[in-house]
Amino acid sequence: MTDPSDRLKELQEAGLRAISAAASESDLLDAKGKYFGKKGAVSEILKTVAYLPAEEKKRIGGAANEARGALEAAFNARLDEIRERERLAREGSGLLDVTLPGRSASVGHRHPVSRTLSDIVSVFQRLGFSVRLGPEIEKDYYNFEALNIPKDHPARDMQDTFYMDWPEMDLVLRTHTSPIQIRTMEGMRPPVRVIAPGAVYRCDSDVTHSPMFHQVEGFAVDRSVTMADLKGLLTEFCGMMFGPGLPLRFRPSFFPFTEPSAEVDIRCVICRGAGCRVCKDSGWLEILGCGMIDPSVFGFVGYDPEEYTGFAFGMGVERIAMLRHGINDIRLFFENDIRFISQF
Ligand code: FA5
Ligand code: MG
Repeated sequence: MTDPSDRLKELQEAGLRAISAAASESDLLDAKGKYFGKKGAVSEILKTVAYLPAEEKKRIGGAANEARGALEAAFNARLDEIRERERLAREGSGLLDVTLPGRSASVGHRHPVSRTLSDIVSVFQRLGFSVRLGPEIEKDYYNFEALNIPKDHPARDMQDTFYMDWPEMDLVLRTHTSPIQIRTMEGMRPPVRVIAPGAVYRCDSDVTHSPMFHQVEGFAVDRSVTMADLKGLLTEFCGMMFGPGLPLRFRPSFFPFTEPSAEVDIRCVICRGAGCRVCKDSGWLEILGCGMIDPSVFGFVGYDPEEYTGFAFGMGVERIAMLRHGINDIRLFFENDIRFISQF
């Protein structure tokens, strides 16, 4: 007959194997029942210990208790593991509640400035103008010289800009879209009817001035183009942009590249003309500069000023967007605050 202590060793090993193989709580309870529960094999041996001689009682009893202790410890550890795994599975599946409504992806939209810009462009396209673009880093010649603004001319002070740090190349960040007048006329004979949208740069910053902003240049050159054509076009444009009836005025002004020159103001839509910080209490907001192209500019591009006349204008896109939407600080456009942007 095998010694009960050898049998106990076998039972302990088999029991430990069954415990670690248990995949569920009920597997585990089966193992307990078989090996060390009340009617388990180890307990059966313990029951016989009472009938053994004193010496054997101690030896076998000790071995049986040891085996049961080891099995119990393994049982408890495995029980914790199985419960933890089941808890994770339960809670993990709780994360997916298929009855909840879906989270929709937020859909962006165009920035109010770029929308205004393309609206302006399409108004002029409908009026027969085609679109030209030019570089934002521009030659001093196109930005100033050929527009009749020589070096050291005081008109440069009105459009102080960011000069590129390569003096030999004579480059500036363009201060307006007017250089595209020159670039276009250099490569094209009249009749010319062009608009030129784009970003421009100046050393400016306040509620109506931004260091980077957008302009749309427009110009037309042909035989017998007059100031009346310019006024009619811009009045038509304002009606199409703002709806009919918004008061506008042509105010005499000066640009070295137009003669005569004017600026167009629109009645301030923020205060309806009563005066506010946006219109600097004047009741009006300037949206563009314009005039009849100066004959000296035609000299730079080889047009005969006896044969041709032309008008030109350059409008501020942000100003127009401010007027359309009643925005009282131009800098709001560029702060990228989603609470502001998402209103449009
Ligand atoms: C010019 O830039 C001329 N090139 C316009 C022009 C074109 C005149 C063709 C004659 C013929 P002015 O500096 O006024 O002009 O700017 C034109 C418009 O740009 C202004 O009426 C205003 O609406 C806008 N603007 C000017 N500076 C800023 C600025 N810092 N931030 C936002 N808008 C500006
Ligand atoms: Mg101006």
